[in-house]
Parts: sequence; C-alpha cells; structure tokens
Amino acid sequence: MKRILGILAAVAVAALAVSCNCAGDYGYKIKGNQIVYNTPARPAGQQSMLGFAAEPIEHVRVGLVGLGDRGGGAVHRFPYLKDASLVALCDLYPERVEAAQKTLESHGAPRAQYEFSGPEGYKQLCELEDLDLVYLAVPWQLHTPIAVYAMEHGKHVAIEVPAATSIKECWDLVNTSERTRKHCMMLENCCYDFFELTCLNMAQQGLFGEIVHVEGSYCHNLEPYWDNYQGDWRMTYNKDHHGDVYPTHGIGPVCQDLNIHRGDKMDVLVSMDTDAFAGQDKADERYGKGVVKKYANGDNTSTLIRTRKGKTILIEHRVVTPQPYSRMYQIQGTKGYANKYPNEGLALGGAELKDVAYDNLDAEEFMSDAERDALMQAYKYPFVEEIEDLARKVGGHGGMDFIMDYRLIYCLHHGLPLDQDVYDAAEWSSLVELTEVSINHGSMPVVMPDFTRGEWDKVDGISFAMAE
Ligand SMILES: NC(=O)c1ccc[n+]([C@@H]2O[C@H](COP(=O)([O-])OP(=O)(O)OC[C@H]3O[C@@H](n4cnc5c(N)ncnc54)[C@H](O)[C@@H]3O)[C@@H](O)[C@H]2O)c1
Repeated sequence: MKRILGILAAVAVAALAVSCNCAGDYGYKIKGNQIVYNTPARPAGQQSMLGFAAEPIEHVRVGLVGLGDRGGGAVHRFPYLKDASLVALCDLYPERVEAAQKTLESHGAPRAQYEFSGPEGYKQLCELEDLDLVYLAVPWQLHTPIAVYAMEHGKHVAIEVPAATSIKECWDLVNTSERTRKHCMMLENCCYDFFELTCLNMAQQGLFGEIVHVEGSYCHNLEPYWDNYQGDWRMTYNKDHHGDVYPTHGIGPVCQDLNIHRGDKMDVLVSMDTDAFAGQDKADERYGKGVVKKYANGDNTSTLIRTRKGKTILIEHRVVTPQPYSRMYQIQGTKGYANKYPNEGLALGGAELKDVAYDNLDAEEFMSDAERDALMQAYKYPFVEEIEDLARKVGGHGGMDFIMDYRLIYCLHHGLPLDQDVYDAAEWSSLVELTEVSINHGSMPVVMPDFTRGEWDKVDGISFAMAE
C-alpha cells in the first residue's frame, strides 16, 4: 500500500512539473507523467555507422585488457581463430598477464609481444601502432573510458557487457565511433547461443508470424561468484544502484528478433523493483550488520518496454535469490511460440510448416523433441553449421562465446559490417540508467533516446554479413 501511495505521489508531482534535470544534451525532462530523454543532434563531422564496414584486415592483431574470469576465457579461445592473434595483454596485476601468457603457451600459441599492467597500462596498449582491435573484459565502469581512448587511438573495440553504465556513456560510444569511423561492438554472447540463433532465423523466415511480445532475463544466483570480482566491483555497483544493472543478455537476442533499429525502435519503458530483502541480508553478511544502510538493487527488477511498431518486451533481473539459471528467452508471435528455459520448446501453427512432419498446427502444445530437433536442424544458419563442432569443442558457455569471437574476427578479416553495431551497444546498455531513473521516479514511464537519430527504420532487419 505504502508503495502504491508512493507511486501515486510521484505521478502527481510529475504531472505538476513542466521540466527538470539534468545533464544537458544527455539528460531528460519530465513532461506530463513521462520522463523524456533528449536525443541530441549529430555533431558536425560525424556520420552514421549503420552498415559500416572497415577495410579488410589480413590478420587481426588483438590487445586484450582485463584478464580476470572473462578475459581469461577469451585467452583460451583466441588460439583457435586462425585470422587473429593476441599480441598485447594488459591487467591491473602483472601476474595475471603472466598467467595469460602461460595459457597461450599451453595452446601452442606464441606469447603476446606486448605486456602492460597497472591502472593506466591500457593507455600504452591503445597507443600501439601495430594493433587493430582492443578487446575489453574489465569492470563495468571502465568499459566506456577505455573504449573511447582506444577508438581515439585508431583501434576498433569489442566491449564486454554492458558496454556503458549511463546514457552519457552510451552517447560517448556512439559519438566516438561515428567520429573516428571505428567499430564499437558489444560482446553480447547470448545472441550467439544455438537456440537463439536458430529462432532468429525462424523469425526472419516468418515461422512465428508477426512477433508481438518477447521476454528475456538474467536470472542467475551469483552467490558462488561474488568473491571473484576484482576489488568487489560487482557487489559494490549492485548495492549502490536500483534498476536492471545487467540487462544485455536478456534484451540483446529479443531485440534482434524484433529488428530493433532495423525497422522498429524501443520507445517507452517502465521499470519496477522489489525491495532488497536477500540483497540486504547478503550485504549484512558480507560487510557486517548495519554497514550498508540500504542495499539499493531490488531482489527482482522487471522492465516493460513498448516499441514504435506496437510490440512489447519484458526484461527481468535477479541475482541474489536462489533459482535455476534462466535467460527466459520467449517469443510470442501470431503464428507461433518459442521458449528456452527451463526446456527448449517450440509451438508453431503456420502454413510455413507444411513441409515439416509436424501435425499439431493449433500450437496448443509444444511439438515433440524429435520434431523440434528436426526443425532446429532445418533452420540453422549455414555459418553456424560450419562452425558448430569447433565451437562446442572450444566452449565458452557451451560454444556461443566462440561463435561470437569467430564472427567478430571473420567480419574484420573480410571487411564486412559487424553483426552488432554501436547502436545495439548503446540501446541495450541504456537500460542500466533508464530503468534506474524510472524506479527512482516511482516507476514513471521513460521515453528512450534514439541513438540512431531518426534512422531506426533505414535498415531492413538484422543480417549476418558473409564474404562471397
Ligand atoms: N558475456 C558474459 O557472459 C560475461 C560473463 C562474465 C563477465 N562478463 C563481463 O566481463 C567483464 C569482466 O568480468 P569478470 O567476471 O571477468 O570480472 P573480474 O573481476 O574477474 O575481471 C576483471 C579484470 O579486470 C582487471 N582490471 C581492473 N582494472 C583494470 C585496469 N584499469 N586495467 C586493466 N585491467 C583492469 C582486474 O584486475 C581483473 O583481472 C564485466 O564487464 C562483466 O560484466 C561477461
């Protein structure tokens, strides 16, 4: 009841306000009962990065910054990519650099030529002349500053998730990429999982009909991992922030299904969280009772987004309560339904299925596992078919991490547009701030900025560029 009254009070205050805040070009105004984010004009000298392709790179020379859990995994994968080498390594701690060198040696790969350490070692790495790509696996707040520095020093960048933690940072990535004409890709690996990729192909072939609603989430009890994050960066961020602080695994794949900024646009979001019951207990246990006065991040955060073309997206975040891992991943269309967790299932009813041995076209039940598997095989993208065995062998979340790295290097090597562009990175990461601001205003609707600056319907759907 108290919370409902709070929401009503916030809405009433907002209705009276004509404007507020905040950070100029990157901020928002409250208009009526909505928070409306500004979309600043494109500065002179910048061009859109939609469809951008750089010159082909014969052999991609990669510098990896951040050699903790995630960066360490990348070191294992890179030796399997024939058109790329890790030539520079950097971490806060020199011993992590040496450990990464040993990993390279264990795969029979050459040691990286350059080594850097310390809080600003990344600058020397970005300044190297003989480097093409900076690959970042550092704590969240370092993503954008290092990526901007790298692009300004002539390097393409690939950034772990989320690429940015604020709207200002999202625009910094977009503006720097547009100004320097350097790729800025967020490493959203969940877009490359087998079920999601094949469902995307099915969506493009019309098997779900018109997709009307999608769902995604990050439901992962991080209990076994909190101690692993260097300098406690992750718990520190969570205890200080409301909102969906880790939205991209949930939002990325479903945005691709909806052709976001390739025909549709995320328009308005509303976010609501629970109190931090388990979060506060966790903080009390970790730092001592009463040390953290009020743990901010709700045990569950739900966000609803409506698109310009009238579709809806539900995104959830929960990382402190016990639960089976789930990224939800659901597609509801006029002709069919897909669901990934806890069991991969398809229920399809369209005439497109006439060639498939599947006779339950009312779609009231999931098709059998055998029918599903046959369909998944039939609709696998050819590039997945080609790389699947190696990806499963190399691993990284079952192979999706390798497919992501493979596609990144393939496109750079052949001079093709990347699968995910800087606008994906900005749109998906923008939820970090937008959900927090909605919650801080009693779950007020937020009109999202347009990082493409009006060009969200210029491209017709996502495509995976292939060389001749
Ligand atoms: N895509 C995925 O599935 C996935 C999974 C896990 C983590 N991540 C992301 O990867 C990133 C790293 O997460 P992690 O779990 O590896 O964290 P981590 O704490 O294990 O690793 C971070 C590393 O960055 C280093 N570092 C810190 N400051 C630095 C600086 N100034 N210069 C160079 N190195 C510095 C640390 O020493 C540490 O080795 C995060 O953005 C996280 O969200 C993504």
